[in-house]
Amino acid sequence: MSTTPAGIIGRPTPRIDGPLKTTGTAKYSADFHIEGMAYAVPVIASIASGKIRTLDTSAAEKMPGVLLVLHHGNIGPLYRTVPGDGDATNSEVRSAFEDDVVRHWGQYIALVVAETFEQATAAAAVVKADYEAEKPSVRESLDDYTGERKKGSHRGDFDKAFASAQVKVDQTYVTPIETHNPIEMHGSVAVWDREQLTMFETTQGVVNHRVVMAQTLGVPIENVRVVTRFLGSGFGGKLFPWPHCAMSAVAARKLGRPVKLSLTRKMMFSSVGYRPRTEQRIRLGASSDGKLVALSHDYLNNTSMLDDFDEGCAEATPYLYSVANLSVTSALVRRNLGAPMYMRGPGAVPGLYAMEAGMNELADELKMDPVKLRIVNDAEKDEDKNIPFSSRHYQECLEVGAKKFGWEKRTAGTGSMKRDGKILGWGMAGASWVATRLPCTAHVEFHSNGRVSVRSGTQDIGTGTYTTFAQVVHEKTGVPLDRIDVVLGDSSLPDGPMSGGSMVTGSVCDAIAKASTEAMKKMLALSTGIDGSPLKGAKAEELEFADGRIRKKDQAAGDPEFAEILKLARIDGLSAEGKTVPTWEDPQSKDKSLHSYGAQFVEVEWEPEIARLRVSRVVTVIDAGRIINPKAAANQIAGAVVMGVGMGLLEETVHDQRTGQPINGSMADYLMATCADSPDIDVTFLDHPDPVMGEYGARGVGEIGLAGVAAAITAAVHHATGMRVRELPVKIENLLGAKVLQA
Ligand code: MOS
Repeated sequence: MSTTPAGIIGRPTPRIDGPLKTTGTAKYSADFHIEGMAYAVPVIASIASGKIRTLDTSAAEKMPGVLLVLHHGNIGPLYRTVPGDGDATNSEVRSAFEDDVVRHWGQYIALVVAETFEQATAAAAVVKADYEAEKPSVRESLDDYTGERKKGSHRGDFDKAFASAQVKVDQTYVTPIETHNPIEMHGSVAVWDREQLTMFETTQGVVNHRVVMAQTLGVPIENVRVVTRFLGSGFGGKLFPWPHCAMSAVAARKLGRPVKLSLTRKMMFSSVGYRPRTEQRIRLGASSDGKLVALSHDYLNNTSMLDDFDEGCAEATPYLYSVANLSVTSALVRRNLGAPMYMRGPGAVPGLYAMEAGMNELADELKMDPVKLRIVNDAEKDEDKNIPFSSRHYQECLEVGAKKFGWEKRTAGTGSMKRDGKILGWGMAGASWVATRLPCTAHVEFHSNGRVSVRSGTQDIGTGTYTTFAQVVHEKTGVPLDRIDVVLGDSSLPDGPMSGGSMVTGSVCDAIAKASTEAMKKMLALSTGIDGSPLKGAKAEELEFADGRIRKKDQAAGDPEFAEILKLARIDGLSAEGKTVPTWEDPQSKDKSLHSYGAQFVEVEWEPEIARLRVSRVVTVIDAGRIINPKAAANQIAGAVVMGVGMGLLEETVHDQRTGQPINGSMADYLMATCADSPDIDVTFLDHPDPVMGEYGARGVGEIGLAGVAAAITAAVHHATGMRVRELPVKIENLLGAKVLQA
């Protein structure tokens, strides 16, 4: 029962939801308009530290159309989620309006609900807070930290090995606060039907969101349903619920009406997370032949006053290279800022910026090619956990990337390469990202109308998950894509994975494949037992399912469609379930080190006369196991590279030191890479299936494309200008000291 019409796994497949998006018919959460809906607008704190002495809502309450002003004094009980409950991950420990303390600028202090959005906005503007303000701690640099440091991975004796190393690098690298800027604002539409709550949410995880909302609101889990049909991306900012979600639910419950709360872009700079600032000291010791003998990674990241958010910068440090002596330490530094949150490639992306920048400096110290330095130090096993890699082709990424980029033509001298009167700088860096297969349940159902549906409670955050689902069902059943209905983004579906960590593809494929296979088996069995079926009495093993039809293996024609069998049997739908075994429970994978790898090669153009720097070309080679849909996957990697240009040259959230307010908290002021900043991008996938990643060997892609880009950019900048910039983003003013070289 195996003939597949094939080849759809690995074939560049256009998005099945593309027409819905391009015609504007895809419903994003804020597009849900419910009969009788009221509109909520938050009021935010204008100080970063202190207490609310009085909150005067009287003027707002008298404004036309105002239905309710919610705040600390009247919100009623809201609960924190259970600490350590992995099924209920929240963004902030504190619940909405929990106390009258203000801990960051932009913290919600009230919520105005009115008949119209305009009325709510007008009334929110007249809510008056009187504060006992304190001087906020919003200092940008974290170098005032003197507390304890947490010990991380450790092996050998770093201090001793570093002291006696022949060649050393000891530098500190800094990444700034970066704000998630998905195109879609966060929003929450809450609808109560008696005790039943439905929330149309902007979430990367409907299943987790449901558990958190039940715990926060103190209602039975079975009374909560969370829906996210489409998401205008999240980049991590929408992984877990934020306080506005409970605020809309409470307002809707109090009013007995649906309530919509949609954040403004400005609010998104202060209340729904950001990548925290990191300061990372990297020490590398090597012998004169380039072999690493000592590596340490000591990092700090800022967090909020109540949340213990660890950026995890050393995620990739202990396994990427072979080194006998290693030490990792970290600490969190509290600031009067909102809670940080995972942002695309959390930990590894800022961490690899620092480590790979250090490796590039080490290569220069050694006068060694940076590609060769990485190959010399390639690891044969995960030396941190002392287990084998499931599948690692890091060296191939480096070699293929070097070849495609033309790396052998690089001349080492500063400003030594030129084109069209511009100086070229070439730099490179390595990349890696963790892989995990999360548990997942999927249902596949054959319907009497000739369609097949596939369902699981995961989300498509803009990455192509709808299409991945359909590809697997098509590969198994042969039913054409336009007769496959994908249903996801709803917590009432069988549990699916969170859309985070680039893990969905690697997690859902097995469950869908198994459910398809089981559903086909049931169809075959049904077809042999139904009166009037041309296959009645046949043995199941004589039959096969191909192109959506059931036939005898030795017979090419006259085979019935599954729908005919269902009609004969008077059954509307026949379904089966499939489950993905998580990597940590599968004997094949549980003792393996699972990671994806990559290599980034970057060219910058530098015009010293006008201090103009552009990233002109990027070659990226990715080893992420089997690629299910090269079209969607290349789109992810190219997008990540553009984000890397932003990380390298543009992105940075700056806070006013007096008020703690983001100074550049708007799309006009916060610089992100645009189409005009986008280089020529060449994406290559090695496409080696990972033998322990289920039926297809896919590890998933997305975040890996951002890893290493910034370090490759700073290396290219150094090559072009001679300036070593160790604090991102690279600004023109960092380069003004560069020698103006004659073209
Ligand atoms: Mo990603 S930061 O896991 O959404």
